[in-house]
Amino acid sequence: MSEQPFEPRIVAFFCNWCTYTAADLAGISRMQYAPNVRVIRLMCSGRVDPQFVLAAFRDGADGVLIGGCHPGDCHYQEGNVNALRRFELLRPMLRDLGVEDERVRLEWISAAEGDKVQRVCNEMTEQVRALGPLRLVTPKRVTPKRVTSPRVTSTWTVPVERADELVGQEAR
Ligand code: FES
Repeated sequence: MSEQPFEPRIVAFFCNWCTYTAADLAGISRMQYAPNVRVIRLMCSGRVDPQFVLAAFRDGADGVLIGGCHPGDCHYQEGNVNALRRFELLRPMLRDLGVEDERVRLEWISAAEGDKVQRVCNEMTEQVRALGPLRLVTPKRVTPKRVTSPRVTSTWTVPVERADELVGQEAR
């Protein structure tokens, strides 16, 4: 039985006002890019909640691409700046889960840059293809150890002959 070659699945969160329009432009200009990229349109890159990225990986994506307006061009003032902040915070967490840096990418792509959409999508597809399928690291369960302090133990080490006497004292 011949094995199917690995085809990466890349989820792309594109801002409606720039990168999504650029992807549209690439389409109507017949610039072909890898069909491995599935685009999700959001109103702003600042709308990308880190949980969206985690959910994409959990549900089988091999890579996540976020596309937003260039700094200073966001329709919601600072949405792309917030996206960048979250992206930088998310990266180390993803590394801990075994997600290599090449699997997540943030790009500023204006509505006129259809060629950049094509280049970024193709580059990312090839990078992720080279990495192979994503294998998430399952965090180890940590079972707390029961620690018995010798001092605490000694408090309860009561000579048997005195036990009744002490219990009697406590009740009084
Ligand atoms: S509107 Fe495009 S990144 Fe905010």
